[in-house]
Amino acid sequence: MLFKRVKPLDQILATAEKKSLVRQLGPVQLTLMGVGAIIGTGIFVLTAEAGQKAGPGMMIAFVIAAVVCGLAALAYAELASMVPVSGSAYTYTYGVLGEGLAWVVGWALVLEYAIAAGTVAVGWSGYMNGLLLHTNLFGLVSPGALALPEALRSGPYAGGSFNLLAFLISLVITWLLVMGTSKSAKVNAVLVAIKIMALTAFIIIAVPAVQDANFEPFLPNGWGSPLGGIGVLGAAASIFFAYVGFDAVSTAAEETKNPNRNIPIGLIGSLAICTIFYLLVGYGAVGSVGSQPMLGPDGLALHPGTPEMAAACQATDALVCSKEPLAHVMRLLGFNKLGNLIGLAAVLALPSVILVMIYGQTRIFFTMSRDGLLPPSLSKLHPRYHTPHVLTIITGIAVSLFAATFPVGVLADITNSGTLFAFMMVSVGVMVLRVRQPERPRPFRTPFVWFICPLAVLGCLLLFFNLGLYTLLLFFSWAIVGLVVYYLYGYRKSYLANGNEPG
Ligand code: ALA
Repeated sequence: MLFKRVKPLDQILATAEKKSLVRQLGPVQLTLMGVGAIIGTGIFVLTAEAGQKAGPGMMIAFVIAAVVCGLAALAYAELASMVPVSGSAYTYTYGVLGEGLAWVVGWALVLEYAIAAGTVAVGWSGYMNGLLLHTNLFGLVSPGALALPEALRSGPYAGGSFNLLAFLISLVITWLLVMGTSKSAKVNAVLVAIKIMALTAFIIIAVPAVQDANFEPFLPNGWGSPLGGIGVLGAAASIFFAYVGFDAVSTAAEETKNPNRNIPIGLIGSLAICTIFYLLVGYGAVGSVGSQPMLGPDGLALHPGTPEMAAACQATDALVCSKEPLAHVMRLLGFNKLGNLIGLAAVLALPSVILVMIYGQTRIFFTMSRDGLLPPSLSKLHPRYHTPHVLTIITGIAVSLFAATFPVGVLADITNSGTLFAFMMVSVGVMVLRVRQPERPRPFRTPFVWFICPLAVLGCLLLFFNLGLYTLLLFFSWAIVGLVVYYLYGYRKSYLANGNEPG
């Protein structure tokens, strides 16, 4: 039943024309949008978590995750250029593998976009709390006077009660998005520039300070084992988060000028830029101050995000313990002011990631509601701002609540589970479509498709099964809830099934 109701691609394209968003984005804006979505909590915060899982071997983890994303990006680019409409992996799956699987993919994309937005909000609050703790406002107040009470600095699973700043930043971004894409895209471009400058400054200071001794032992936790969530593969599965977001570019296909050319440029360009930065930052961080994991009494590495790890981290300034690792490395190297500036850059720039993530989520919901799988009232556009404001507000409130409650590493891994699933479906979709519709024009063709796409699927599976048992259980539970919702609502209301698509 899952494979029935394939929506013809021509019909998908026609629907998009009928109820369309304004085409206003070009290649530079798209690439900036991609970089805005990609560089964020992953490199600024999860570097510490990756270090705990893999030690200096986290550099291999960065490479593995980049390769998997690169393979998936090539597949994405083919489908995004063929079907340049909103909805990303959800829409492609609808047009290739049918409505049931498309729904599951759309449902999994909630994990990718909404949970990722929450993850980044928590990462942002880590840097903001660090800044409030360290600043004396040019001598106007004593250091720490501005810090929030402990209980409001993190959620209940991370030693606090309510992550107030993560909650508030998500609401502010939601408001920006309700006001309109174009305005928000301009803000995004400025923030991307700040992020690039911060990473460049980090590389300039950290790379010359690299010492060979810091790479020994290189693989303290080995490669890791499936479901174990530790070792190089466990780190790769987590740090994959640092690359999540390039596909947000494809969700904007319907608002893009000349999408056939510009979408592949945006996808692959933004991924390439970020990969180069990550490898240099990872090398600088590991090589300059070291990243050996904290060990438990049994001599094994502790799992990040556990009370044991928190206890072990109390009396150390190890990189793997920091909630603001890039600023921390600078301070350890004696560059306190630069550390604070990098912290400030993260505080200013991470919101752009939250913005693109919530944006992507609302556009996917928008498309699902346009297909009748979610109530049509949700896709109403705002009379003045022309944005899907109902969806944006609902998504924004949900993101704020996740962000206030859950720790960063847990949210990142959940995001990755949904994303890896969507990437797999896209790669499968490309192959199916090559067989079923070989004649259809493909403005961008995945090179060596029968090599790249199967490898993309295998890479995604490898990372997926190294996410750790609890994350996978959560993923499958979410998928089951999704199927129940589908059979109760979308299966009956689907415009495709009922042949009553609104004109
Ligand atoms: N890749 C994005 C980040 O690292 C989601 O924050």
